[in-house]
Amino acid sequence: MSKIEIKNVYKIFGNNPSEVLPMVKEGANKEEVLEKTGHTVGLDNVSLSIEEGETFVCMGLSGSGKSTLIRHLNRLIDPTDGDIIVDGTNIMELDEHQLIDFRKHELSMVFQRFGLFPHKTVIENIGYGLEIQGKTLEERNKTAMTQIEAVGLQGFEDQYPSQLSGGMQQRVGLARALATNPEILLMDEAFSALDPLIRSDMQQQLIELQSKLKKTIVFITHDLDESLRLGDHIGILNGGRLVQAGTPEQIIMNPADDYVKAFVKDVNRAKVLKAKTVMVQADKFDTSSIKLAETYKVNEGVYIEEFLPKVLENNSTIVVVDGKGDTKGYITSKELAISLSKTGYNETTNTTQ
Ligand SMILES: Nc1ncnc2c1ncn2[C@@H]1O[C@H](COP(=O)(O)OP(=O)(O)O)[C@@H](O)[C@H]1O
Ligand SMILES: [Mg+2]
Repeated sequence: MSKIEIKNVYKIFGNNPSEVLPMVKEGANKEEVLEKTGHTVGLDNVSLSIEEGETFVCMGLSGSGKSTLIRHLNRLIDPTDGDIIVDGTNIMELDEHQLIDFRKHELSMVFQRFGLFPHKTVIENIGYGLEIQGKTLEERNKTAMTQIEAVGLQGFEDQYPSQLSGGMQQRVGLARALATNPEILLMDEAFSALDPLIRSDMQQQLIELQSKLKKTIVFITHDLDESLRLGDHIGILNGGRLVQAGTPEQIIMNPADDYVKAFVKDVNRAKVLKAKTVMVQADKFDTSSIKLAETYKVNEGVYIEEFLPKVLENNSTIVVVDGKGDTKGYITSKELAISLSKTGYNETTNTTQ
């Protein structure tokens, strides 16, 4: 079962959303709806599933509906139509009391502008969610100290947010979100305000934390590189519509439309595509054309960039093996050239222009 299921969710902003809903359901797009009714389409028939323990990245340009989507998950926003199921529970059916409980225990949010309390110290900020849960000061401080260590802020626990750099403030934001040990972490452009190097450090830290914690993370960004680095799956929004959802590799190899293509056109494919994605399957490859001395073995999960030099320098044929060492396929310089070319190989079959 998926951890989070979003089913046919529509969100229309304006004075009379339900009156406008049929028009949106019949296919009118965001511009038409705005022009004819003055209402803004936030989400337009969005359905997606997020699996337990994965990082799901939601990407799109500004105004595409990313924040609207994530705010539905903790019911800061209610849909005009559709259902949101978390852990098998339709969260629209929670009463006020259950909703408070759900927000306290099930999920935490990390904000772009950190959202720290300026008059509270680092340790007090991190312990805040636990204070709301009614934990004692001693319990709060004990948990907060563990989180402070997890994000590498030892020694800063008694400082105030204004004494910290942006990157450190966001570490506090992350530690605070994790302190209540929520199942789901919602991160809305959490790293977008940080300088590039610090942002990259934070991404690495999140990857490391996540490899231990295995939370279900919904991460929002408008940055493709960040999406590719963090996402197990990526959903791409345009004008409130989900135009594509898939693994990073699926999105790079088969962009669904021109909007997605514009995002992926400059990506460094060697960093994103794995051996198994670009190989020719063993049973379809003519091994008589290679000499054993020219081969080089790699695991199927290895990224192209790691074996690219072997192919370029020695013209080696890559033998792709699985965890047991069994041969799954082969990669020659030809497959590499095709998969690294910016347009990608589906372009030859897809292009109609
Ligand atoms: N409270 C609101 N009232 C009216 N329009 C809104 C409101 N919140 C968001 N919108 C509109 O919904 C669309 C999606 O916004 P948002 O989800 O904030 O986009 P993103 O996070 O992708 O930048 C935008 O056109 C925005 O102007
Ligand atoms: Mg936003």
